[in-house]
Amino acid sequence: AEGKLWGGRFTGSSAPALERLSRSPERYFTLVPEDVTGSLAHAGELERAGLITAEERERIAAAFEQLAADHRSGAISPQPQDEDVHGYLERELIQRLGPLGGKIRAGRSRNDQTANDLRLHLRRVIPEIAAGVEDLAEALLERSRDVEGFVAPGFTHLQNAQPILFSQQLLAHAFPLTRDLARLENARLACMSSPLGAAAMAGSTLAGDQRAMAADMGYADVVQNSIDAVSSRDHVVDFLYAGAMLGTDLSRLCEEVCLWSSQQFGWARLDDAWSTGSSIMPQKKNPDIAELARGKTGRLIANLSGMLATLKSLPFAYNRDLSEDKHYVLDTAETLRTVLPALTGLIRTVGFDAEAMRRQAVQGFTLATEIADWLAEQGLPFSEAHDVAGRSVVHCETRGIGLEDLTAEDLAVIDERLTPEVLERISLESAVSRRTGVNGTSPERIRDQQAALAALLEAS
Ligand code: ARG
Repeated sequence: AEGKLWGGRFTGSSAPALERLSRSPERYFTLVPEDVTGSLAHAGELERAGLITAEERERIAAAFEQLAADHRSGAISPQPQDEDVHGYLERELIQRLGPLGGKIRAGRSRNDQTANDLRLHLRRVIPEIAAGVEDLAEALLERSRDVEGFVAPGFTHLQNAQPILFSQQLLAHAFPLTRDLARLENARLACMSSPLGAAAMAGSTLAGDQRAMAADMGYADVVQNSIDAVSSRDHVVDFLYAGAMLGTDLSRLCEEVCLWSSQQFGWARLDDAWSTGSSIMPQKKNPDIAELARGKTGRLIANLSGMLATLKSLPFAYNRDLSEDKHYVLDTAETLRTVLPALTGLIRTVGFDAEAMRRQAVQGFTLATEIADWLAEQGLPFSEAHDVAGRSVVHCETRGIGLEDLTAEDLAVIDERLTPEVLERISLESAVSRRTGVNGTSPERIRDQQAALAALLEAS
């Protein structure tokens, strides 16, 4: 097995079907920068252990920097015989440095290298994803200010329920994003201990102080147990969960964008640059971004459950099953980095129709609770108040009018306790402005919620 990192004890060459299965998929080779970072830190460890001189370490470091640059520029690329990123870089190093290049492998294994690469990678991509989440939350905050005073129906069971300020609905989608940010940060912190020096699984006889190596790579600590260091991927699951939950939150917003932009709702007009047409129906304007993002949530959830399925029952320490971890991480990261800017652009540019929202805000007798609440304030038990308000709905329904059209005469017919004072309460403005509890939909509370959201985003 020539050209292999492990060829010594083999005679003859590997079966092509084995090679096809075993070789890293092309995208795993994107971990070159992380593998180089690990190798630079490891070279320092070899120098401290006296296996190479300071001058040799410098030559190795310079060669690795050059390798990384050559890989970036496309001057070199993985060859078919390179099983993975580790083998690729070591082969190139030996080509450039001769026997000195062969010294780098002392005291390390691809098992701790790959664990290290993925942790470094997560530390790099999580902040990028978080920045995209912040942009979206900020866009929702800005739009909640743009639509100040827009009254819309709020829903339960997707049926018109009570009038709300549409700003609140937008903010309601932004707050979960701040919790997604916390989950992402939690996943990043879970990647802050270095597995390097665990070597194959039992630690290395050449290891000195792995803390120096960890510090060189910007880690806060070293994984305490070498078996844990090469076996565990719970930090990967933390990230995939944060991604799946984020995707789930996005898809709920996306679902509403699809509803809002439908002809039936007519609340939202998508910007031309952020919507698509039909190849046959000339009139169409479709919310593809929202649909694609909603669809990709399935993939984010699959990545989480796929990784958990890979880990379940996997004996300690390293097993090749674990190489799947990169598939899930790279896919979730790529998906989110693609979805977030598109969805943010859609939200920033979508036009909202105050008139359509307002027209629909009273439909479905959304002011019925106002009547019941008023009666309760007059001392009626809510069970009776509910009944009277319900009969008001029936009264309107049979006459084809809305609750907001009721007159003093109508009220007297429905129930003697419905005196004309209730009329001023049967309005959108009253319904919205009276909901002044700390988290309510009144204009003052919306301003509070906007300030609270801005503070959360400032702090993250
Ligand atoms: N390329 C592998 C991975 O992606 C790491 C190599 C470990 N291989 C081994 N035979 N121990 O996880």
